[in-house]
Amino acid sequence: MTIQNKTLGEFIIYNQDDFKYSSGELSRLINSIRLAGKVVNHEVNKAGLVDILGAVGGANVHGEDQQKLDVYANEAFIKTLTNREIVCGIASEEEEDFIIIKGNKKNNDNKYVVLIDPLDGSSNIDVNVSVGTIFSVYRRITPSGTEVTLEDFLQPGNKQVAAGYIVYGTSTMLVYSTGNGVNGFTLNPAIGTYYLSHPNIKIPEKGNIYSINEGNYIHFPQGVKDYIKYCQKEEEDRPYTSRYIGSLVPDFHRNMIKGGIYIYPNTSKNPNGKLRLLYECNPMAFIAEQAGGKASNGFMPILDLKPTELHQRVPFFCGSKLMVDKAEEFMK
Ligand code: AHG
Ligand code: MN
Ligand code: MN
Repeated sequence: MTIQNKTLGEFIIYNQDDFKYSSGELSRLINSIRLAGKVVNHEVNKAGLVDILGAVGGANVHGEDQQKLDVYANEAFIKTLTNREIVCGIASEEEEDFIIIKGNKKNNDNKYVVLIDPLDGSSNIDVNVSVGTIFSVYRRITPSGTEVTLEDFLQPGNKQVAAGYIVYGTSTMLVYSTGNGVNGFTLNPAIGTYYLSHPNIKIPEKGNIYSINEGNYIHFPQGVKDYIKYCQKEEEDRPYTSRYIGSLVPDFHRNMIKGGIYIYPNTSKNPNGKLRLLYECNPMAFIAEQAGGKASNGFMPILDLKPTELHQRVPFFCGSKLMVDKAEEFMK
């Protein structure tokens, strides 16, 4: 990585004028997520080490029982966004209800709400496999200065103002979009700075990777079973290769760079699939579309769905446009 690359901070300042009526609020919000992401990154990186230190002294480095990383990440994001009084509300996969932020100001006149999956793929932590964070930003629809309500959070994904993810992988990357394409930044851990490493990411129109938990095959709808057989057929550029980590963020990130399709369908056990519309599917769909890809529930665009509840689940087909088109054909 060369020193000429823009840092994330420089990039945010440089692009601030893109938001015509911006007061810098969204920029400050992205900055807060950048900071919280670094805090979580630090904790994730020493996940194995904390155990070792804890065994020696009987407690971990914080002098308390090691918190599950989901809880830690959830608190890190909520605290950062709350302390900086940068949003008027937060909804998290880890919280039953949304959080109203009043701040010290008499009336919180911030206009944005954030929805977050603080730690995605957390079952992979114990085995040192990549995990991530996913976030989604909307402009509130209720009047400024009042307390946010559920309807501020239940907006269709096509109303997102920004969305992004952090992948805690072999390197840590923050990838986000404010509706003008997608850019990726890689963390230099030595100095704690993100550098623009992947400007203007575009998903290849077509790839040769399909990502799905095939262990559930027997429970899949017929369309998905048929699509899998199509992927495995010997013809032209097929069979495709199968890659599935079990952490949505790095699975999605890989497909975005290399071209591929990620599927978490409805199953006979989970009629709405597993992934959450508001914390996982909408932000990933926004990024996919901003990068020229596509996201669907098998029948219609994810971003056009009107959410009815905070923790709603939805079947998810996402990635290279032509591959999602093909999967939809099989679902008919
Ligand atoms: P989370 O850790 O936030 O609960 O999300 C886990 C999700 C997602 O990251 C992943 O793609 C999927 O669960 C894997 O599910 P299966 O183990 O059923 O394949
Ligand atoms: Mn998740
Ligand atoms: Mn999670």
